[in-house]
Amino acid sequence: MKTSVAIYPGSFDPVTNGHLDLIMRGEKMFDHLIVAVLKNVEKEPLFSVPERVEMLREVTKQWPGVEVDVFQGLLVDYARKRGAAVILRGIRAISDYEYELQMALMNRKLEPRLETVFMLPGESYSYLSAKLVREIAQLGGPLTSLVPPIVEERLRTKMA
Ligand code: PNS
Repeated sequence: MKTSVAIYPGSFDPVTNGHLDLIMRGEKMFDHLIVAVLKNVEKEPLFSVPERVEMLREVTKQWPGVEVDVFQGLLVDYARKRGAAVILRGIRAISDYEYELQMALMNRKLEPRLETVFMLPGESYSYLSAKLVREIAQLGGPLTSLVPPIVEERLRTKMA
């Protein structure tokens, strides 16, 4: 397994400036960063997987070391398939910690060679989540500085 390949998994429904901040930090740290969108058949997403992938590709196109992909099933199986040794996750506040700890330790149990690396997004994103972004968009609130312009545009179109 290469140590320089990392996976940043998530739902990204939609990608926010907080996600982007973490991708920017991860891109500096790893040779190859795979932003992996979970295809979750149980969830009712706002954006389809192809729409989320398209937005992510658009907002990460300036980084040649960043790839956007889709995965299904166990994250550890996907990491093995992609030859990644690191899972990258962001922790915004202490409230994220419990869920992230549980997931990281379970992933370690399933694949001991896989390390989870936590990074902190910029503090101005500590209150930002895709769930709140969806809610603000649904209620017609301002989205500037929460999501990239192309995502704001897509949200407005979706809500129109
Ligand atoms: O952005 P999210 O919704 O917080 O991301 C959660 C994600 C995609 C990282 C997590 O649900 C996941 O890894 N799912 C894949 C299935 C899996 O491996 N489950 C066991 C995790 S311990």
